[in-house]
Amino acid sequence: MSISVNQQAKVFHLQTAHSSYIFHVMANGDLGQLYFGRKIHVKDHYDNLAKRERREAMVSWGNDVDDFQPDNLKTEYAAFGRGDFRDPAYQIAAENGSRISELAYAGYHIDEGKARLSELPSAFGQPSEGVQTLTIDLADPLTGLQASLHYSVFEQEDVIVRSTTFSNLSDNKIILRRAMSAQLDLPDSRFQMISFAGSWARERQEVKNALKPGIQSVGSLRTASSHQENPFIMLARPETTEDTGDVFAFNLIYSGNFLDQVEVNHYDLTRVLIGIHPEEFAWTLDPNESFQTPEAVLSFSKQGFNQLSQQLTNFYANHLVNPRFAKQSRPILVNNWEATYFDFNEDKLLAIAKKAAELGIELFVLDDGWFGHRDDDHTSLGDWFVDKKKLPQGLPHLADAVHGLGLKFGLWFEPEMISMASELYKKHPDWLIASPKRQPIAGRNQYVLDFTRNEIVDAVFQMMAQRIEESHLDYVKWDMNRYITDMFGSELPADRQLEMAHRYILGVYHLYQRLIDRFPDVLFESCASGGGRFDLGMMYYAPQAWTSDNTDALSRIQIQYGTSYGYAPSMMGAHVSDVPNYQTGRITPLSTRGRVAYFGDLGYELDITKLSEKEQQEIKKQVAFYKRHRQLFQFGTFYRLQSPFAGDKNVASWEVVNADRTLAITARYQFLNRPNPAYLRLYFKGLSPDRLYRINGSEETFFGDELENAGYAVDQILDINQPMTASADFSAHLFIAQAVE
Ligand code: GLA
Repeated sequence: MSISVNQQAKVFHLQTAHSSYIFHVMANGDLGQLYFGRKIHVKDHYDNLAKRERREAMVSWGNDVDDFQPDNLKTEYAAFGRGDFRDPAYQIAAENGSRISELAYAGYHIDEGKARLSELPSAFGQPSEGVQTLTIDLADPLTGLQASLHYSVFEQEDVIVRSTTFSNLSDNKIILRRAMSAQLDLPDSRFQMISFAGSWARERQEVKNALKPGIQSVGSLRTASSHQENPFIMLARPETTEDTGDVFAFNLIYSGNFLDQVEVNHYDLTRVLIGIHPEEFAWTLDPNESFQTPEAVLSFSKQGFNQLSQQLTNFYANHLVNPRFAKQSRPILVNNWEATYFDFNEDKLLAIAKKAAELGIELFVLDDGWFGHRDDDHTSLGDWFVDKKKLPQGLPHLADAVHGLGLKFGLWFEPEMISMASELYKKHPDWLIASPKRQPIAGRNQYVLDFTRNEIVDAVFQMMAQRIEESHLDYVKWDMNRYITDMFGSELPADRQLEMAHRYILGVYHLYQRLIDRFPDVLFESCASGGGRFDLGMMYYAPQAWTSDNTDALSRIQIQYGTSYGYAPSMMGAHVSDVPNYQTGRITPLSTRGRVAYFGDLGYELDITKLSEKEQQEIKKQVAFYKRHRQLFQFGTFYRLQSPFAGDKNVASWEVVNADRTLAITARYQFLNRPNPAYLRLYFKGLSPDRLYRINGSEETFFGDELENAGYAVDQILDINQPMTASADFSAHLFIAQAVE
């Protein structure tokens, strides 16, 4: 049993394999948070954990409940305006304008398993997998507001998923001004907050700060989870390492505006709030209407960051990603974008596809530029019809030819967008998002369709469905290349304008769901100018995402390393591209580019028809090597070994280990070569301590505990006796540990 309830004392204890989450009903009927952390025993009650002394100069509920000082408490879902002065988990405005409400315990029930949400991406789980869901009903008799707090316990993966459903049981309308998915109050503030900030082409760089009194937060008001911040954050004890120590993870299964806020108050209590950003949100609940928040993912590890990432990865594979693809090996692709940009015809594309087939590549992806009259990025978004000038014989003809080569065929769309120079705009100038009487602001010369309107989503669905059907597409790259400005819903009444951003994302999810229902075998890859929507909402529909437009090997090490804390390698599209790199101008060896891209879903994004014979042979070898170890690279247990964000930032290494720990591949990257370097050792992780391994086929064998604790000697990178033909900077070395039979 993962959920234990003491009905008399009204104590709820959720247990995962290694953690406990405990709360109870307090004297005022509100829910008090008692504990989240390392697993502890189930008891009848935990008075000691609930203990509070009366403090001076505090607001007190002295009349009916003695000693009740809300600002001094840890709670589960805080209200506004009743004595807790921290930011609340929710807030309403009643018909008379009052923002005050008070939710009190009204009952609970437990469901076996975890059902999917109907309009939002969500976690799911079967009773047979030991998944249970606790729902606590809270009610405010004065306003008629009801809130149901859901806690799904994924015991094996050490994950708890939370969300809230609000219902209006009154005869009046109630406006939700804030509806966070989860709140977690922790007893002290001795934590580092770790978040992942960035920009286009440098997504998810690790940021670490000690908590300070007051509010610290990350968030987005771009109507996308964004390049700039990511909804995934961690709170870790300062002494926590990759392998030891306590750390909490928080993420949101959502792709729109979000807020992850951490507030430390005057008693050193730490409150985490995670949910839709309240700044651009409100929702009107008419009588009998409900509102479902997105789901928040909470996870705890006492064994440091690697363990935390691994349990999240397991959770995604078992309970979040489309089961059709969650554990299915992903094809090695070639994408024509950086090879041709907008300038191609069928011959050029087929030459790439042919070469791809020769090299062992499995999927050909036709990127931007195949539709309308799209010779540059000023036109044609929304006209999802083939450009007969470039492809006079049509898409199905090309698709047949690609399929005929034994390759899968994939196509790029940017479904949410519209160019003013398009047939669609001529027909429906009112379909784009714009604020009345203002010229909307362009981004990459394009505008955003109002996906809150069903007829617009439907029109896009029809066009996409035709293309997918007629060309038997195996794969779709769904791009989104600008953030939304001028947010205004032309069909929403004035008092519902703040619903627009959330309704927009619901429209995006609706289109994804329709396409997946209709084409269950099509693999979707999400993209947003690279990694601008790399979030769990997207991963529910599209099992992999384009990690970044920056494919420079060195930058990619940092981006993939940062991303790996909160996301699985199989979620990261990772391509080998040309040098000098388009984003950095850097020249890195082909071997290094391959050895970085192996640790994700491998692809090639360069003109493979222009490669030298030597490069072709090398790519052929890379593809064969990746195929041999694909399961390990995409679904093995991933360990971070050396961080490119730490020390002198010159070295990074990571490792994947198979399930029975008989095979591990470690990559060690060195950015700049150092003269006369110190002796180096590489420390493996996750091996079987008692087994013997060979490294790269070595004569000598090594015990797992030896490789883990004493390490393996890394050769000097340069052999000065060899003639120098290329730069030795940006080197990448693989160490394959194979167990001896
Ligand atoms: C975005 C994507 C790229 C490519 C271009 C096409 O920038 O991130 O991979 O698809 O759009 O315009």
